[in-house]
Amino acid sequence: MLYKTHDQVEMMRQSALLVSKTLTEIAQMLKPGITTLSIDKIIGGFIKDHYAIPSFLNYKGYPFNSCISVNDVVVHGFPGNNELKEGDIISVDIGVILNGWHGDHAYTFAIGDPGEETMKLIKVTKESLYKGIEKAVVGNRIGDIAFAIQEHNERKHGYGVVRELVGHGLGRSLHEDPQVPNYGKRGSGPKLKEGLVLAIEPMINLGKRDVFTEQDGWTVRTKDGKPSVHFEHDVCVRKGKADILSNYSTIEMAEKANSNLFTNQILQHLA
Ligand code: MF3
Ligand code: CO
Repeated sequence: MLYKTHDQVEMMRQSALLVSKTLTEIAQMLKPGITTLSIDKIIGGFIKDHYAIPSFLNYKGYPFNSCISVNDVVVHGFPGNNELKEGDIISVDIGVILNGWHGDHAYTFAIGDPGEETMKLIKVTKESLYKGIEKAVVGNRIGDIAFAIQEHNERKHGYGVVRELVGHGLGRSLHEDPQVPNYGKRGSGPKLKEGLVLAIEPMINLGKRDVFTEQDGWTVRTKDGKPSVHFEHDVCVRKGKADILSNYSTIEMAEKANSNLFTNQILQHLA
């Protein structure tokens, strides 16, 4: 396992925050009618304008800058000419390399109103990410993070916790040891030590946990066709309290401003 020095963690914070900044940019422009391919192009341009490289592009042959996963797509969705429509949910997953260090994080947005059930799935999945992060402290094990995420989604809310895909270590490579599953036993797995950087990423289904991969070799969908939500943060293990390197606050501000705009447009339309 690779443990990062203080200076290396600060470099990784810059990488993670560039992803946060890119997601904030995207949050401002989400609305019905725009294509996911146009979002992907903006992401690629924004990253390059900030002296970084979109790390997903060409990773194991992946053909786009970002993964954009709409509704029943769990992760690794291909951007395309499909237009977003009112009531969709969309996970935007972005990776960058800045000064040799990776940032990799994701956020799920609602386009208008996807309904109460799906809004709750988004809320609960995000909560579970933070419950996992709370366990990312020195002395705990990977299984403590995994168990916390599983409990909140599965036992507490009856959601499907995807088994086939997991979080991971992050550093000079996109995927480092250890794997970080979203399900597991308390007190099991590798011990967490100071300076371990993890990408923690719950992938949670409204219905059953079962998924399949499409013919394109990437797009992962729920088998029952129900929606799936994905959130991801980059986190450094510390004593007492984990250090979250990525940041949702500006994304959430943009999301709120955007949804107020949307509500006003509807009200105007009705007037
Ligand atoms: N967040 C995803 C992961 O950690 C993104 C990988 S997509 C890929 O695995 F295109 F780069 F493969
Ligand atoms: Co990841």
